[in-house]
Amino acid sequence: MLNFTTIPLGRAQVDDLAIPVCENADIHDDPEVQGLIAKAGTLAAFSGEKDRQVVLHDLLDGKVRRCVFIGLGPQGKLTPEALRAFAGKAVKEAMGSKRRGVLLAVPLAKPLAMEAQMAVRAIMEGACLGNHVFEKYKGKPDTRPLNTLSLLVPPTTAKRYKALLTRTAAICRGTIMAREWVSTPANDKLPAQLALAFEKATRHARLRTRVLDEAQLNRQKFNALLAVSAGSAHPPRLVEMTYTPGKKAEKTIVLVGKGVTFDTGGINIKPSAGLETMKADMSGAAAVAGAMVAVAALKPKNRIVGITPLVENMPSGTATRPGDIVTSYAGKTVEIGNTDAEGRLILIDALAYAVKKHKPDVLIDLATLTGACVVALGEKIAGLFCPDDALAEAILRAGQSTFERCWRMPMPEDYKELLKSDLADIGNMPSSRYGGAITAALFLSEFTGKTLWAHIDIAGPAHHKKGSDYCGPGGTGFGVRLLCELLENL
Ligand code: BES
Ligand code: MN
Ligand code: ZN
Repeated sequence: MLNFTTIPLGRAQVDDLAIPVCENADIHDDPEVQGLIAKAGTLAAFSGEKDRQVVLHDLLDGKVRRCVFIGLGPQGKLTPEALRAFAGKAVKEAMGSKRRGVLLAVPLAKPLAMEAQMAVRAIMEGACLGNHVFEKYKGKPDTRPLNTLSLLVPPTTAKRYKALLTRTAAICRGTIMAREWVSTPANDKLPAQLALAFEKATRHARLRTRVLDEAQLNRQKFNALLAVSAGSAHPPRLVEMTYTPGKKAEKTIVLVGKGVTFDTGGINIKPSAGLETMKADMSGAAAVAGAMVAVAALKPKNRIVGITPLVENMPSGTATRPGDIVTSYAGKTVEIGNTDAEGRLILIDALAYAVKKHKPDVLIDLATLTGACVVALGEKIAGLFCPDDALAEAILRAGQSTFERCWRMPMPEDYKELLKSDLADIGNMPSSRYGGAITAALFLSEFTGKTLWAHIDIAGPAHHKKGSDYCGPGGTGFGVRLLCELLENL
């Protein structure tokens, strides 16, 4: 549980305390905390060196049983992300030492180079997200999450940020759900199972969730989507989650997420190295569903729809062949030059459906779409493709504030030539192997009409082999916090 503690240190017994410390700068205005930092200086020659951690016992006449000091380095480098990392490290340290909870000192001194709200929020996020471990598949879990995550603040601060507490808890809950869906092995998230999980998670008064099965997708001619699932023994689904605000909505915002529960590549089968990470090819769908879970609690003023096409991409006797031509939901014919370029096939049907049915004011898709995007931007930064400057700015800003970094990529009109097909209206396989993230985005753009639209390629940051300060190995939940932040600013 996430909460505030306003009882001054020394007044009540505290079992576990963690204090972030900067080098040669006082970032705390709590005199007891300042006193403890001075003590760490004399007892352990600790002065806030980056990544150094010091543990002291029985401080403040025994009122503080155990205190972990975590160095953040020079104050000039103190960002909200450094505070998320601090909170994540403190929670991990406490879990590793088999503690039951931790009290986190929040730096609120005047010279701090960020607003108090940012500091409070960052520590909440780092603590909440760092407290998540995915050990569902272990007979005996190695680590137990902490029961209580408390932030030490003065009463006025606690009062001012009460709403921030529930908001952040809801967003972290959605992020953690997304992480778990991504980390779940593909044999336990077949399209029908994942659809059911989304349906269960979004059961809420203001949300309505509908699941289209294979027969319905057939009847409505989602042929590009069906071409991808054709090789799998497990039928596809399309989940539509609709949030309706209490007052009449001004805008409709539709979020679409790629949900390939496992991507073998199909008949254009992938090489075996790293294939197991292709269970994460539904990270876009997980981010959208996770965001919808949070949206129910955040109650934004606009109508929000989440759409997730869910398929498994497999080779078999019923699989789509390279060279096959299908008529997509939008009516355009597509030559499937490569069955491994499947994400764009399920997305064009979902996007065209979203445009036709919802006439969205804003349409955003998230997808682990191309390896080329990972080559371009690495594993921590997503590619943003958006023809509209204002929407692009809003997304970049949202990503900056949550540290889910996006980098805007170009969408040059003349590159569309690379998608020409001799036989069909368009081909899914570009004729050049260069600029793959761009040609993928341009392919999608042929199916969004005049709708204000953005595409975020999250192939890099959706999944990590190794964990980081506030995220374990596996799914990262990338996009959930960004979308929540964005939805409140659109
Ligand atoms: N799911 C992959 C993209 C991917 C690659 C995600 C690495 C995460 C890590 C996607 O379906 C794919 O296979 N894309 C191909 C497209 C190509 C065949 C045009 C790619 O990127 O190679
Ligand atoms: Mn693929
Ligand atoms: Zn894929």
